[in-house]
Amino acid sequence: MIFYFSGTGNSEWIARQVAAYQNEKLISIADEMIDLNNTFQYTLGESEMIGFVFPVYSWAPPAIVKEFIKKICFTNYNSHYCFFICSCGDEAGLTLKIMHEVIRMKEWEWKAAFSVIMPNNYVSLPGFDTDPKELEKKKLDDSVGDVQRINGLLESRTEYYFDCKKGSFAFLKSRIINPLFNKYQVTSKPFYATDDCISCGLCEKHCPMHNVKVDEKPVWGDNCTSCLACYHICPRHAIHYGKATLKKHQYFHPEHKRY
Ligand SMILES: Cc1cc2nc3c(=O)[nH]c(=O)nc-3n(C[C@H](O)[C@H](O)[C@H](O)COP(=O)(O)O)c2cc1C
Repeated sequence: MIFYFSGTGNSEWIARQVAAYQNEKLISIADEMIDLNNTFQYTLGESEMIGFVFPVYSWAPPAIVKEFIKKICFTNYNSHYCFFICSCGDEAGLTLKIMHEVIRMKEWEWKAAFSVIMPNNYVSLPGFDTDPKELEKKKLDDSVGDVQRINGLLESRTEYYFDCKKGSFAFLKSRIINPLFNKYQVTSKPFYATDDCISCGLCEKHCPMHNVKVDEKPVWGDNCTSCLACYHICPRHAIHYGKATLKKHQYFHPEHKRY
């Protein structure tokens, strides 16, 4: 059973590769979280594994992923193999440590964890932009081998294998900057659409939280995870986050379906 959260398709692509190779069911965390009738109880097959795939947000797991993991319960858990994969543009900070803390009260423990370097989609602060095209291509090419290697390790149920790229100043980034980021940056308030908006509705369709509604122009609700899917999917580059994104670029995983 593979649970995933994804804004611009990187983590979804990884989750799909893993679910297909390991023959596991794929479940969207966003869909589960917005289902008001959800009991968050899951029943596992005997040899099923429990996996989570998500992007790194400000050197930590996204709040929605932490909340979801805290809520869920496996009715027949019996030492099933548990792992997570985080996708990040550069480095994951203390994501591994935080994920250990998130499941402290659970009966299960992580047997393996990985980070996969993917094209960067973070643009909503000054100084941050998507990768140059050449680097984007290299990351996408390398990710194929990275995920194949991870699939091999998962298939053989490798235990106590933790390979998450921490990077520099991890404590400062994950423990000091991350709480500030969650408080001040995870909000839809700065989003708006310029007159270039053609009301195509792609932002509405691609918001994993169903938090964008397009009548003439997009309107954002309060349930934003700051995944930036709405900004990156816009075919006219008409969606912006305050002034920070005005001269920035766009990215979406190339295999993501743009319906
Ligand atoms: C709000 C936000 C914060 C991010 N913070 C980090 C970070 O701390 N470190 C990093 O390497 N990448 C960071 N990124 C980049 C994403 O983790 C990376 O591009 C990821 O693969 C996106 O996955 P997705 O396409 O599944 O949404 C951030 C992206 C967003 C939208």
